[in-house]
Amino acid sequence: MYLAMPFEDARLEQLLSEKHQYLSQEDAGVNTNGGKLNQDLLHEIFLLYYQQEDFSPDKMNDFSLEEIPHYLKLSHRYYLHKKLPEIEQSILHVLDKDPGSTNLYTSLVCFFNAYKNNLIEHIRLEEQELFPYIQSLFTGTINGGRFMTSDNNFTIQNFIQSHLPIEDELKKVSEIIHHWSKHSVLPLPYKIFLNQVEIFEVELRMHGIIEDAVLVPMAIELEKKGNFFTKKSD
Ligand SMILES: [Fe+2]
Ligand SMILES: [Fe+2]
Repeated sequence: MYLAMPFEDARLEQLLSEKHQYLSQEDAGVNTNGGKLNQDLLHEIFLLYYQQEDFSPDKMNDFSLEEIPHYLKLSHRYYLHKKLPEIEQSILHVLDKDPGSTNLYTSLVCFFNAYKNNLIEHIRLEEQELFPYIQSLFTGTINGGRFMTSDNNFTIQNFIQSHLPIEDELKKVSEIIHHWSKHSVLPLPYKIFLNQVEIFEVELRMHGIIEDAVLVPMAIELEKKGNFFTKKSD
């Protein structure tokens, strides 16, 4: 319970309530292959947003390697189909309220176009390579099978090295605004926009923690347990 919420917590509360609603709706509407969104998992993940210093990945061990990627996929949809379009809408709103800011507008549009492409590629790698690989590990364990890494040379170790914190880039947005803005005190539409970007940054950081500190170690554990890896030299 968070009875006396500081401002930061109030913003998080709003974010999590909106996210909960979006993910639950998506979960009900998409082909989930039988894997429904686990509300207990969602609850544990949301606690992380408030208590990062107390976060222990072990708490997630009760959840399966199907449930966690399912949550992550729904979150990807939330970013691409809700959060990014909202941010793009806010950029338009800034220009609308401050028509002289065309340089700023152009810079922000360029930045977010590039950012969106990076995010799409980041998500593609996870959804088309990491998650199917983990799914194979998981299925292999159930069937007592032996998993082969034959097709695309995907390895968890390579993934770890290439999985960069995509939210760090977003810090540039504030620099862009302060560079191009002619105002000594930022008008309200700019503040609202920056607030949105800041919240998105927090959201992506938490998402990355679930991937790096929960999902990947669980997958590595499963590899070891099942002795699934067949080295190329075998
Ligand atoms: Fe992701
Ligand atoms: Fe990621």
